[in-house]
Amino acid sequence: MSDLILYSVQGATAVITVNNPPVNALSPGVPEGIGESLAKAVADDAVNAIVLIGGGRTFIAGADIKEFGKITSGQRKGFELLPLMRAMEDSSKPVVVAIHGTAFGGGLEVAMGGHYRVASPSAQVGQPEVKLGIIPGAAGTQRLPRLAGVAKAAEMCAFGEPIKAADALACGIVDRIIEGDLLTCAIAFAQEIVASGITPPKPRERNEKLSEAISFDALRAQARKTKRGLTAPLAAIDAVEASTQLPFDEGCKKEREIFERCLYSDQSKAMIHAFFGEREVAKIPFLAKDTAVAEIRRAAVIGAGTMGGGIAMNYANAGIPVIVKEATQEALDRGMAVIRKNYANSVAKGRFPQSVMDARMALITPQLTYDGFEEADIITEAVFEGMALKKEIFTAIDGIAKPTCILASNTSTLSIDEIAAVTARPHMVIGTHFFSPANVMRLLEIVRGAKTSHEVIATCMALAKKLNKVGVLVGNCRGFVGNRMIHPYIREATFLVEEGASPEQVDKVLYDFGLAMGPLAMGDLAGLDVGWRIRQEYRHLETPGERHPRVNDALCEMGRYGQKTGRGWYAYDENRKSSPDPEVAALIERTSAELGITRRVVSDDEILDRTMYALVNEGAKILEEGFALRSVDIDIIYLTGYGFPAHRGGPMFYAGLVGLKKVYERVCEFHATHGDQWAPATLLKRLAEEGKTFAQWDKER
Ligand code: 3HC
Ligand code: NAI
Repeated sequence: MSDLILYSVQGATAVITVNNPPVNALSPGVPEGIGESLAKAVADDAVNAIVLIGGGRTFIAGADIKEFGKITSGQRKGFELLPLMRAMEDSSKPVVVAIHGTAFGGGLEVAMGGHYRVASPSAQVGQPEVKLGIIPGAAGTQRLPRLAGVAKAAEMCAFGEPIKAADALACGIVDRIIEGDLLTCAIAFAQEIVASGITPPKPRERNEKLSEAISFDALRAQARKTKRGLTAPLAAIDAVEASTQLPFDEGCKKEREIFERCLYSDQSKAMIHAFFGEREVAKIPFLAKDTAVAEIRRAAVIGAGTMGGGIAMNYANAGIPVIVKEATQEALDRGMAVIRKNYANSVAKGRFPQSVMDARMALITPQLTYDGFEEADIITEAVFEGMALKKEIFTAIDGIAKPTCILASNTSTLSIDEIAAVTARPHMVIGTHFFSPANVMRLLEIVRGAKTSHEVIATCMALAKKLNKVGVLVGNCRGFVGNRMIHPYIREATFLVEEGASPEQVDKVLYDFGLAMGPLAMGDLAGLDVGWRIRQEYRHLETPGERHPRVNDALCEMGRYGQKTGRGWYAYDENRKSSPDPEVAALIERTSAELGITRRVVSDDEILDRTMYALVNEGAKILEEGFALRSVDIDIIYLTGYGFPAHRGGPMFYAGLVGLKKVYERVCEFHATHGDQWAPATLLKRLAEEGKTFAQWDKER
């Protein structure tokens, strides 16, 4: 037997321990090893009960997700777990599964093969497969309804959210919560069963909960609404419904068919890419493993505006005391009121109790001075976007902060190197670019200046994790990665409107693609005046004769800044509900005429290709210039910071699904028609010619 499974006999109980760190995934050898140990225990006359448990930090956290790509690419055969669960159920000796950590996916499915389940109070169980674009594939959709009831099972399989041990006990997945040592108590539980003489129940035969009436159609409607565009939640509901219509074995067959269909889908490939991508971005190839990571015990934030307030909340949420410094009492009061309101909303929604809010508020110290800044381990600047002001602030804090303090800027466009140059410690200066709303959005672009030290990078990557953010390291170019790419995306969306599309058409195409909102609605939300001011500032850098969007400037000239003024690309009512505005339609027509553009019918395909490939082409340039480490980093930036749909895997992965040859040819067409702003990236051209994807390029480097 391999080291993946450990076997011992304690008294009359055989203990099978899964030993496949870090999460005891069902990698090749694990199910086989459990099966062999089970057979050994059943055959051993000295054994009268069996306990299955996970070694290390968790019970089995699921199938080995790395194997799925090998299956779909034909490198290995599919897996077959059903015989293992059947052998557990058919064991003549009671099988007790002891759960700690996370029994997820195939882990919960294996657990449901046991006759009984006991769990630590902190354990969680779940069928999160839909988050990978698949459904449970080892009878989870058939055994879970039998244990937990149909409604609970359908909800767990369709939405993938885990439940805590207490909830699992209440609904029947778990039979006992163990307060003491899990293994000792699981063995005692197994011996209780033996002593009672009860014939252990087989979960597959427990049909009594299957007659529970539930509306699958209502659940489907909910899934369509809350999981827009995703196929797996609906597929999971079909599979659970099958448990109520078919005998167990037939239900398993049906589940398998649906599972296979999902596994080979583009959605699943994209979501698995996103799962590993989120973990990959934390790995910085040039950082030595022993790079020192400083502990952040105290923080300070400058500016309590839109971003500063949210950033301070992040520190407080992580238990880090934070000083917030403002320029005026009025701005400080306003900023603190927003923080208080945000926390109060969370309390009202039941996310946490008032006591948590009070504790977090107590960690935030509002003030107008730099008092206490000398103790901070990191100072995050979030004042207005302007180089002169940033330089003034960095000069001031450089004089106050202790030498080991990291000086971070939240700038979205300015050069970190230029800011760092005014300090005597450019190696301690870095960009920490939070996304709005900073207390909600998961992305944190960590912008590395030319002189930023490895220790500061490593510390900020670790800090991101502590703040519950996804930290992605990027280089110091204008707009960094996310906003640099958004620029051509919005440019094309606006051009399309000037050429003949309506704002509603452009936004609908991208919304239907799966984005949280279209580019023009996003502009209204962020404030159109921000880009307008930046364009005015940088107008002198424009290449003469190059086309630039004009209608967005015209909107700003009319005072239509977006949601904040109640009018932008759309008109907004008091509930911020948008509607098309005839004034905008007239403005667009006028602007097109002034620009000498004959308006035409623009197809939905053209809208999608021009906006998406604008992102992809810029992303490829960023990669060849080295401002992002890998294409997956760009994907994760878009998935966690820009509402890009997970089931498309991010812009670079999406391009791979389309085929880079096709993308490249389309970019060349746009280049010929629309000019040099569409000059194809060299990397895109090369990979298209080599028949590769960006994901392959990542692996080969
Ligand atoms: N397969 C392969 N690798 C896995 C894995 C899995 N199921 N789950 C986690 N890992 C890897 C991660 O990639 C990571 O690798 P790295 O260190 O090289 O980056 C390492 O294990 C640790 O993972 P995390 O960093 O995510 O550790 P956390 O402690 O933060 O979280 C966890 C642990 C809650 C288990 C989280 O990893 C998780 O949610 N994993 C996925 C669980 C899941 O989706 N299970 C269902 C799989 S599909 C299935 O079972 C199909 C079945 O129905 C047949
Ligand atoms: P904001 O205008 O909402 O807030 C800036 C705050 O800084 C104001 O409250 C102002 O009083 C304060 N301030 C100005 N000078 C100060 C000083 N000397 N000391 C203390 N406080 C001072 O601006 P916002 O939107 O929060 O932007 C801040 C930074 O974050 C900018 O660099 C911006 O580019 C960047 N950013 C903004 C995003 C957004 O969506 N708003 C997203 C990501 C980055």
